[in-house]
This record gives sequence, structure tokens and C-alpha cells, in this order.
Amino acid sequence: MDKAIDINELLKTMTIEEKMGQLMQLIPLFYDSSKSGSITGPLSDLNMDEDMIWKSGSVIGVTNAKDMIDIQRIYLEKSNKKIPLLFMYDVIHGFRTIFPIPLGMACSWDLDSAEQLARITAIESSLSGVQVTFSPMADLVRDPRWGRVMESTGEDPYLNGLFAAAIVKGYQGNLDDPYNIIACIKHFAGYGAVEAGREYNTVDMSDHTLREYYLPSYKAALDAGCEMVMAAFNPIHGIPATGNRYLMRDILRKEWGFDGPIISDWASIEELIKHGVAANGKEAAILAIEAGVDIEMMTSNYINNLKQLIEEGIVAQVLLDEAVLRILKLKEKFGLFENPYKAADPEKADQTCVCEEFRQAAREISAKTIVLLKNDGILPFSKDKKVAIIGPHADNCGISGNWRALGRADETISLYAGICNKIGSNLVVMEKGCEIAGQNENDFVKAINVAKEADVILLALGEEQDKTGEAASRAFLTLPGVQEKLVDAILKLNKPTAVVLFNGRPLEIKSLEEKVPAILEAWFPGTEGGNAIAEILYGDVNPSARLTMSFPYTVGQIPVYYNSFNTGRPYSEGCADPVSKYLDIPNAPLYPFGYGLSYTNFEYREIEISKKTMNQEETLTASIVVKNVGAMGGIETVQLYIRDLVGSTIRPLMELKGFRQITLGIGEEQKVEFEITTQMLKFHDFKGNFKAEAGEFLVMIGCNSRQVDTVGFRLNL
Ligand code: BGC
Repeated sequence: MDKAIDINELLKTMTIEEKMGQLMQLIPLFYDSSKSGSITGPLSDLNMDEDMIWKSGSVIGVTNAKDMIDIQRIYLEKSNKKIPLLFMYDVIHGFRTIFPIPLGMACSWDLDSAEQLARITAIESSLSGVQVTFSPMADLVRDPRWGRVMESTGEDPYLNGLFAAAIVKGYQGNLDDPYNIIACIKHFAGYGAVEAGREYNTVDMSDHTLREYYLPSYKAALDAGCEMVMAAFNPIHGIPATGNRYLMRDILRKEWGFDGPIISDWASIEELIKHGVAANGKEAAILAIEAGVDIEMMTSNYINNLKQLIEEGIVAQVLLDEAVLRILKLKEKFGLFENPYKAADPEKADQTCVCEEFRQAAREISAKTIVLLKNDGILPFSKDKKVAIIGPHADNCGISGNWRALGRADETISLYAGICNKIGSNLVVMEKGCEIAGQNENDFVKAINVAKEADVILLALGEEQDKTGEAASRAFLTLPGVQEKLVDAILKLNKPTAVVLFNGRPLEIKSLEEKVPAILEAWFPGTEGGNAIAEILYGDVNPSARLTMSFPYTVGQIPVYYNSFNTGRPYSEGCADPVSKYLDIPNAPLYPFGYGLSYTNFEYREIEISKKTMNQEETLTASIVVKNVGAMGGIETVQLYIRDLVGSTIRPLMELKGFRQITLGIGEEQKVEFEITTQMLKFHDFKGNFKAEAGEFLVMIGCNSRQVDTVGFRLNL
């Protein structure tokens, strides 16, 4: 077909079945039964006949160029209208070169790295036949019990928005480029707030909270040009997101002007029945199409019901036409009519995926995401000391985390391999000691004996990579199995001992903080994980990552997040009861938002503000001097927070409004300046207006959300 295809004319020629087909997404086996035997089962599950296959609009789950090309070719041969299929897949933190999980990546506070990894991901994906990725996930998260916090960039709306935008740019670039893929922001909206961190649970929040904290990151992704949106599984304001008109018609379409396709989540139209807002598939289809969902993922309520509903006048024909038009427009914009195969190329994919250049990028990016949580001076290790790596993650190649697409264990560098690469295998010994979640302590003895041989010990601990992500909620956040006991056994040797953690969520690690001299949070670092950790452990890279999600003191404190409120009875040290506090634990998290150590020290001094008052049109400059007073060059992330002291709604104790990453050599200093604008002071008032209010503000600048210097100013309007 010609690229200059007229979509509106095409729509006019389509039958109602062909239109419904565009709204349908199938898995690969429907198109090529030779690959997977009979398709009778799946066809009858969806209650459709074979003819509908050749009218479908998109495919979920093709992961290699050959299958994609075969399916597209068969489809175009058999389909009457020959509208190319769109191929979608979850490529979340890398396709075959796997980067750190998004929560780790965010700890880099490095937007260029986020864009670069999305770019590399787009190249590997597009060569492998993937055209749309269900990423980025922009859900704000405050509850580490929820397994999907690993897919988020953390607890701050501003930072989440910046990352979502950077990732969208990396994937999509300019859609004419053959190596670009379409981004689909998810999960709209508020999925990160599932009650008690239990997967698929209810979400309930005020409109104020939704707009202030949860919506901005999705909006930032759309402002960056994100072409698709996925509706969430969870109810919100009493209605499941997939059937929620307020979210999709009112906010997304009308207020924000988004005109791209909205896709359901996996079977989420059908789940409207289980939620109890639809009695059957027909009602589910009505709710979803009226609320604004265009593409139905994995179930068939649209194709089974829309025709009849339209003929009976229950659903307006225009709703179907608009949905089809959005899908066709995207296909046209993406250049599918011109080249239905886009960049898919089996040979080139083979040569390009996990190439040395991409590995190098993964190594550098991974090293930027590893957070030094504690260091009593034993790190970095010296390269001539014999090291024992003990613990279930010691030589584990399963360190890419969930949603690792085509990432392969045999292409992943374990911690053991990375350290051998760094200091030579003759100086490295290794023993697991126990399984990640097992109860067996029999191998402790072997581990202790191996550890005795070494000068320094590295404990490689954490979670199983597949016990994070979707459907992986946990109520206990301590280290699984007998790992803590292994720690105690090894610490008895009284050797310099550091812990490296592999996990997809903030864990409860106050006991480690109390007894282990050094703790390194490696998250699930991906393909080059072992090499990247070795760079940090041996001081070739000075750690620079900072947490974007608070580590709770204990589970009972959750949700604990930095941008919380003062309350009417705030706690402060020495204050008289009754105040807002726990009897048995501190209010503060174990490690706060923005926290992370370096092998050097940075001193902050001379916080200044250019003027004490500011008018609507003016800007202020806040500045601080930062000096490297330690013995190694390093990168510091200087963080700007603002507090609105009195507002018409309650205002957070502090909100991140800017940051700068600066590199300082030994003894070097730099004056870091931030421009403060009225725009940064705006919030949603009680009536939903987004505006700044006159009054006093605090400006806080520092190295994390709990260590800041403060000045004040007044906004006059
Ligand atoms: C998840 C989505 C994902 C989709 C497709 C769902 O279960 O919630 O995040 O994109 O499956 O795989």
C-alpha cells in the first residue's frame, strides 16, 4: 500500500467485523497453527471463528524477527483489507541486553542514561520485530510490599515524570527512524496505590492526591509524545480503571487532549465482570468502549458483542469508528502501511543484540544505579586481598529481575564472574551457603570454611528475581529463608565483611544496618551486573546512586515516603505527647529518599537566595556551595526541595523540585544554582485549580531528603 493512504477513506470501506477486528489483539499461535498445533481450543475460548483472525489488529508476544515476518506475511496474504498488524510486547528494562530494573535505574538520577538504555532497547526490539513496548510504567509507588515497585521509578511525582519522558524519547525518538518503537505508558491510573501492597487490589484516593501525586508522571510521558496508554487493573473512585470514564474520557482525552489508542490490560475488560460492575461480556464491552478503551488485550468481549450492541443502538457506532481511526492513524504514523515489517531482520538482530557496545553501556549504566547504603570504611576493597563471596547470589546469573524480556542467564555476568574479571580468579573463592528462600543450613559449614581462607568477605544476598514484579506481593520484607542466619555465622569470623543486595524492592534490613560494616544495594542489575558491581567494590567507579524510594524501618511503617505531611500534632525530638508517632519505632525510614553514600565526602555550605520576596513574573536563584572534602573524585546529586508553609490544602513537608549532578575532584568545589519559578510552586487546590498561592516558602538544598540546608522567601501575588 501507498504511505499516503487516506485513513478516513479506508475506514469508510471497512465492514463492522473488520472494524471490530482492529480492536482485537491475539497471541502468535492464532496466525501460524503449524508452530503450535491446533488453534481450535483458543478460538473457542474466544468464541470466534477463524475468519476473525484475518481481521485482527495487533499481536502480543512475538519476540523474534522471523516469527514476526512470517505472521505479518501470512496475515497480509489472507486478510481482505491488508491493514498490517502491530506487534506488541513487554520490553521493560532491555530486550536482550538487560539493564537494571527501573527502580534501580532511577537511583542513577541520570536521565541521559535512561534515554540511552531505552534507545538500545528500541534497537534490539525493532530488529527483533517488536513495534510497541508496554513501557514505561509511570505508576508512583509507596509500598514495597507490592512486587511491581521494581517496574516503577519510585515515590516522587516529579522524578517519575522526568524518567517517563526520557524513556519515551529513547524508545520513540522520531517515529520515521526504523529502529524506533512505540511507547505505551501504563497503568492508567493509580495502580501503584493498591491497598496493603496486595496485587490487583483496590485503589482509593482523593482526587487531590490523584492529581497531585499520581497523575503527573503519566502526563509527563504524554507531553514527551508517548503514543499509547494502557488502562490499569485496579478500581479507583469505585470504578475499575478499564471502565472508568472519568479517567479516560474526562482526564486523558478531554483535559489532556490525548488522541492515541488506549489498550486494556491483560483481560481487564473481562475482569469488569469479576469486579462486579458488569453482569456479562456485553456489559463489560459497553463499559470499556464508553469509558474509552480502544484495544482489548487477550479477551473477546468487543468482537463478540459490539456488532449487536451497535445494531441495537446501545453503543454508538461513532465510538467504534473513533477507536478504529486511532489505531489506523498510529499504524500510518509509524509507517506500517509503507513497510509492514519495519526493521525486523533476523540476521541483523543476531549480530546486534548483546553486542559489545551495548554490554559496555549496560555496564556503565548499572554501575550508576548501585547505592552504597552503609560503609564503615571497609570499601572499596583492595585488589590484592583474597575475597570469599558467600551467599545464594554469589554466582547467580539470575540477577536481571522480572520482566527481563529475552535476557539470558548464559549471557549474564554473575557477581563471582565480575569479581574474577576484576582481580583474577586466583584471589576469589566462593560458596553459596544456602538457597535464597530455603530453610536448609547444612551448607553453612562449607561457607564458613571457604570464608576462613579469605582476607575479606562479600555476602551476596537478596530475593529471587521472579519473586518480584507482577503478582509478587510480600508481607514480610526481611531477607527470605536462612540468609540472616548465614550472615550471623559469617560475621563471627570477624573479617571485613560487606553485603551486596540483589532485590526488586526496598527490603527491611535494619538488622543488617546494625551489624554489617558495609551494605551495597545492587538491585537486579542485569546482563553486566557482576562487572558493574566489581567496578564499585574495587573503587574503579565511585558510587553515586541515590534512593528514589524510602527503605522502611519495618513493614508496619509502610507507607513511608518523604513528601508526607506535618499533621496537626507533629513529632519532634523531646516534644510532649500525644503526637503523631509510633511507640515502638521511629517515624523516619531506615534510609530516606535521595539517600546514598560515596567513597568521598561532600560538604555543603553558604546556602543563599537572591531575594527574600518574589512576585508572579519573577524568578529567584537559590544557591549552595558543594565541596569534595574526601580523598576520591566523585559525583554528587545536589537536591532541591521546596515547602509551601501555608496553603489552602495541606502541603507536603518537602517536594523535590530540581537536582544537579556535579563531578568534583579531590578538594574541588562548585557553586550550584537553582532557578525558582512560580510554576514550581503550583499545586491543585481544593477545587482542582492548579495554581500558586501567596505566602512563605522554604527552600531546602542537600544531599538527601533528610540532610538539607534551608532558606526562606515570600511569594507575593
Ligand atoms: C501487566 C501489564 C503487561 C501486560 C501484557 C499484564 O498482566 O499488568 O503490565 O503489559 O500484562 O503482558
